[in-house]
Amino acid sequence: MASTPTILTATIFLFLFLLKSTISQPTTTTDCTGRWIHIRRLPTRFNLDLLFNCSQYPLFDNFCPYLPNHGLGHKTHPLSRSWFRTDPLMLELIFHRRMLEYSCLTADPNAANAVYLPYYAAIDALRYLYGPDVNASADHGLELFDFLQYDSPGIWARREGHDHFLVMARPSWDFSQPLRNDPPSWGTSFLQLPEFYNVTALTLEARAWPWQDHAVPYPTSFHPPSLAFLESWMRRVRRSRRSTFMLFAGGGGISATPNIRRSIRNECTSNVTQYLGAYVKLCEVVDCSNGVCEHDPIRYMKPMLQATFCLQPPGDTPTRRSTFDSLLAGCIPVFFEELSAKLQYTWHLPEEIYREFSVFIPKEEVVFKGLRIVEVLMGIPRTRVRRMREKVIELMPRVMYRRHGSSFNFRATKDAFDIAIEATLHRIKSRFEEEVAFE
Ligand SMILES: *[C@@H]1O[C@H](CO)[C@@H](O)[C@H](O)[C@H]1NC(C)=O
Ligand SMILES: *[C@@H]1O[C@H](CO)[C@@H](O)[C@H](O)[C@H]1NC(C)=O
Ligand SMILES: *[C@@H]1O[C@H](CO)[C@@H](O)[C@H](O)[C@H]1NC(C)=O
Ligand SMILES: *[C@@H]1O[C@H](CO)[C@@H](O)[C@H](O)[C@H]1NC(C)=O
Repeated sequence: MASTPTILTATIFLFLFLLKSTISQPTTTTDCTGRWIHIRRLPTRFNLDLLFNCSQYPLFDNFCPYLPNHGLGHKTHPLSRSWFRTDPLMLELIFHRRMLEYSCLTADPNAANAVYLPYYAAIDALRYLYGPDVNASADHGLELFDFLQYDSPGIWARREGHDHFLVMARPSWDFSQPLRNDPPSWGTSFLQLPEFYNVTALTLEARAWPWQDHAVPYPTSFHPPSLAFLESWMRRVRRSRRSTFMLFAGGGGISATPNIRRSIRNECTSNVTQYLGAYVKLCEVVDCSNGVCEHDPIRYMKPMLQATFCLQPPGDTPTRRSTFDSLLAGCIPVFFEELSAKLQYTWHLPEEIYREFSVFIPKEEVVFKGLRIVEVLMGIPRTRVRRMREKVIELMPRVMYRRHGSSFNFRATKDAFDIAIEATLHRIKSRFEEEVAFE
């Protein structure tokens, strides 16, 4: 794309401008008690400078095309208002941009209930994961820690870092390399460093027994600018005719070793077309091998809109962005591991409501005991299926990231960002209450 450098420069300068002229207009209607956040000023080498190197990770991907629109990426179509070619790695930018319009910002760190670190941790991690610093992965974060200690050290010292938080837009697994692993196998050690034990890290997938980290939804491609756009999408989802019974959008499952993706492929290919009442297709596979779907939401959103159930098997890691795409399409997610969502996104999708909007089938039953997914799903009464879909649609606003600078009335609808901030504040507050209790 020839225009990328210009767009990139424009994006970054707009960002710089915004940083210097904090946008938030403290509104008189907002009660900020207990919700004040201070954005820590960091040198640009911790955020914006990293974006200029977007084309310099040959083993990764040139991520320059994903930077426009403050990290939402290009629009899918010039006339599109809500749909973008969003890359999940850009959550750090998306969050930063939304933080700038948060309604309870304070310039005074002593008045803040929480301190946000606008550090693009996962982008900075690329040089350790795929670049020249692969053998120094235990150093990831130390430079930031040093900065926090020597520049206005009082801000950290006030709460020993317990009130600090940041976003790391990859699975925690990528930052959990044991410190003494030599040579390193995979990942940086950011979350293993005692220096950052007290900091809250919002990641795309948390560890099974997290301490610092908590999972937040993957950003999808849907970022409506106003309530009207969200509501019109919800109406479309509700009206959509579901002619496919179950769908899997993804890759993998072609190796000979038994695994859940392979079982799904087998079940789908042996039973491609059948007429079962209103269904035209029993099972559909949208082939997303080699990342072809990643920045092309039309490929999978259309089929998902027409499907009743969307299969969400684990891949390299238990979670998938596709879970959130399917919720936006009104397609009922089918999970095969508790770690794929239930034990992860507890802030956005409370554990106790999973039965109301999703199906759980243990993967061992399918892979080793021959349980057929289609039979389990066929056993669910139609009225229950309809209620589940209604619940999925009801949850939609909670898992999408609305567009920054969205219309004022839209801000009353809590989206994934708002819920993450609220829960982070709550978590930080309860840390202090625990401490007081121990004293
Ligand atoms: C960007 O890349 C250049 C050259 O590869 C390197 O010297 C510089 O430190 C990088 N900047 C950041 C912020 O990583
Ligand atoms: C990292 O260490 C391995 C093993 O010691 C070595 O083969 C490799 O060249 C090193 N990589 C870099 C980029 O220094
Ligand atoms: C983290 O908090 C504990 C007390 O809860 C404190 O002893 C420790 O020094 C803090 N760590 C850092 C790096 O500030
Ligand atoms: C196709 O699905 C039907 C209904 O679930 C099942 O009875 C049949 O055995 C399947 N056919 C194959 C070839 O798997």
